[in-house]
Amino acid sequence: MEFQNLLVEVDDNIAVITVNRPEKLNALNNETIEELDKVFSQLNENEDVYVIILTGSGEKAFVAGADISELNNLDEQKAKMFSEKGQKVFTKIEKMEKPVIAAVNGYALGGGCEIALACNIRLASDNAVFGQPEVNLGIIPGFGGTQRLTRLINSGRAVEYILTGDIINAEEALRIGLVNKVYPQAELINKAKEMAKKICSKGQFAVRMAMKAINIVDEVSAAEGQNYETSVFALCCGTDDFKEGTSAFLEKRKPQFKNK
Ligand code: COA
Repeated sequence: MEFQNLLVEVDDNIAVITVNRPEKLNALNNETIEELDKVFSQLNENEDVYVIILTGSGEKAFVAGADISELNNLDEQKAKMFSEKGQKVFTKIEKMEKPVIAAVNGYALGGGCEIALACNIRLASDNAVFGQPEVNLGIIPGFGGTQRLTRLINSGRAVEYILTGDIINAEEALRIGLVNKVYPQAELINKAKEMAKKICSKGQFAVRMAMKAINIVDEVSAAEGQNYETSVFALCCGTDDFKEGTSAFLEKRKPQFKNK
């Protein structure tokens, strides 16, 4: 997989995507957004990949936002297409059947915060900085930030951050539930891989079914969500992995899942 602005490595069922424009603090230009669209589609199809990690190149930034030099050329018509395109890609990331972990290793501003929000799990380095500073540019978040941030954290806080453009440091991000864990920068990627490895060690059929059930939470009523959970729970109980997992527990041994 060759990309201009992304590095992609697949090893031991874990894919690591690195946004690689360090000279622009990994800002998302149009080309990078299109490459992200492509790589997530490819990784979704790749049966060898169980978990995906998204991070940024260098020690300073995860993604410092949409590329402001391109934003500067938008008019109303182009802006609509730009926002819809970004939203489509970020929703693809959010709704992957494989879990996506954001390893936020520095600035996650604007579109960078929004892409982290679209990931299923966020881990941060101690120098990570989150924020939706679009208001400073006379715009608002356009890649889902008004929706995802407001759903994820207390809505009063989301309003505050979106309207003031104030930044959120790693400690605060942890306190308000924006990230799951904070690590020293040098440890972040290995900690993300450790978590990914742990998920890889489980039966992947169950992992996928859990993701499918979680992914519809915003789209259906509570009752429909529970019905869906029942149907995929039942599917899991028809797998070899279920027999293996429960037998291994009863026989006091480690399960050997075959992912079917
Ligand atoms: N779009 C385009 N270029 C960006 C960028 C962005 N979102 N963020 C950083 N860059 C570029 C800078 O223009 C600079 O390029 P140059 O060397 O060619 O001038 C380079 O990345 C380094 O950034 P710089 O501003 O010099 O680093 P800093 O350490 O002084 O500041 C930030 C870091 C993140 C605070 C600052 O770059 C910033 O505010 N970026 C914009 C964040 C933002 O508003 N994002 C939301 C966009 S919707």
